[in-house]
Amino acid sequence: RLFSSASSSTLTHGDAASAHGDGDGVVDVNPPRGTRDFPPEEMRLRTWLFDQFREVSRLMAFEEVDFPVLESEALFIRKAGEEITQQLYNFEDKGGRRVVLRPEITPSLARLVIKQGKSVSLPLKWFTIGQCWRYERMTRGRRREHYQWNMDIFGVPKVRAEAELLQAIVLLFQRLGITSSDVGIRVSSRKVLQAVLNVYSIPEHLFTEVCVIVDKLGKLTREEIEKELMSTGLSSEAVQGIIEVLSLKSLSKLEEVLGSGVEAVADLKKLFSFAEQYGYADWICFDASVVRGLAYYTGIVFEAFDIEGKLRAICGGGRYDRLLSTFGSKDIPACGFGFGDAVIVELLKEKGLLPDMSRQIDDIVFPLDEELEGPASSIASSLRKKGRAVDLVEDKRLKWVFKHAERINASRLILVGNSEWERGMVRVKILSTREEFEIKAGELE
Ligand code: HAM
Repeated sequence: RLFSSASSSTLTHGDAASAHGDGDGVVDVNPPRGTRDFPPEEMRLRTWLFDQFREVSRLMAFEEVDFPVLESEALFIRKAGEEITQQLYNFEDKGGRRVVLRPEITPSLARLVIKQGKSVSLPLKWFTIGQCWRYERMTRGRRREHYQWNMDIFGVPKVRAEAELLQAIVLLFQRLGITSSDVGIRVSSRKVLQAVLNVYSIPEHLFTEVCVIVDKLGKLTREEIEKELMSTGLSSEAVQGIIEVLSLKSLSKLEEVLGSGVEAVADLKKLFSFAEQYGYADWICFDASVVRGLAYYTGIVFEAFDIEGKLRAICGGGRYDRLLSTFGSKDIPACGFGFGDAVIVELLKEKGLLPDMSRQIDDIVFPLDEELEGPASSIASSLRKKGRAVDLVEDKRLKWVFKHAERINASRLILVGNSEWERGMVRVKILSTREEFEIKAGELE
């Protein structure tokens, strides 16, 4: 009820009041349902997490890119019945263009790769961190707005690309203090399903639709999935075949069922042998039920989960070698992942792994007298030029300043008082040791 004292005439006219208030001239101080404010503590946490994303991307030699959150709707029109296309924040802008608040970043990446055309040298390794919007049913770790860290590689057809991406994810977990007993990455390939569809001579155009339906395993009952699959025209024999293969949890069993000549098996074996060499084999496991809910994946797919199974997917990605041609361009092999900011924070909280998020200020400069505002300004200014974080405080009692210093974790208190200043001196108090001394203002480091 922050704005309740404001004049009702301005507020009832305002967009905020009509769209988001209760109509009596009082603005709801909560952000729209499913979205978040970031007050200072939350913002510090977000910045810290993004710094971890950036650092891992740097270690992996990826370059940062960025895109508008508002994109044209055409980039997200897909016909496979994916959930994401039913959750669009889409509208017409004042110029009559159909636009969306992007639900994911992959189509924008593809758009830029196409736009840059021959001027990009492959392979290309890009990362980005940005806000995505989905009109979701809200659950723990699922919101209507979230930030996603994406890492994508274009121009590498071999599973080396997937192996690199998985290392990035594991590096991130390790930096956060998460172990392979907290989190696991389930890996499979859409080529597994493709091989099954080939056995039953199922037409190519049904592939994506089948993937999107099968991704609902775990959310819908087996009977519901079977019904949806049958409705695409599959025989009940094919449906049973698909469901049986999807329950496989070991590569050797998969090889037994599909045969060793199948591409899916060869890709997965290569990836698992890379995992041994990179040293993250204990983080990943084969699970044929992972197919992912997005239409464009064509090969290896993966998702990270908390081992206890309490939370939604922490991140997910895979290979999408044919996305560019859906935008009318020549295909380039590609793969990548999206890693949200919400579930990981839930997990860090649960495991007690959130870092100390208190503020870190170097100095507080406090003039004890109004006349000393001038010298206090120049002291603060010169310390800041030397790279120290300085809070200049005025018009408070000394007691308040000490409390404030504790609250913001300041290292030093610099008191500018008349008797010292007459001699060009200031008083310094080191807050951790309570040590106090006088020093020439010009010698403050
Ligand atoms: P996605 O699985 O839809 O994939 O989303 C990736 C990650 O974003 C999820 O695992 C989760 O961490 C986070 N996420 C998604 N929706 C929400 C939500 N409503 N609330 C909170 N977090 C959410 C993609 O978006 C693909 N474009 C990823 C990709 C990149 N594939 C290849 N390159």
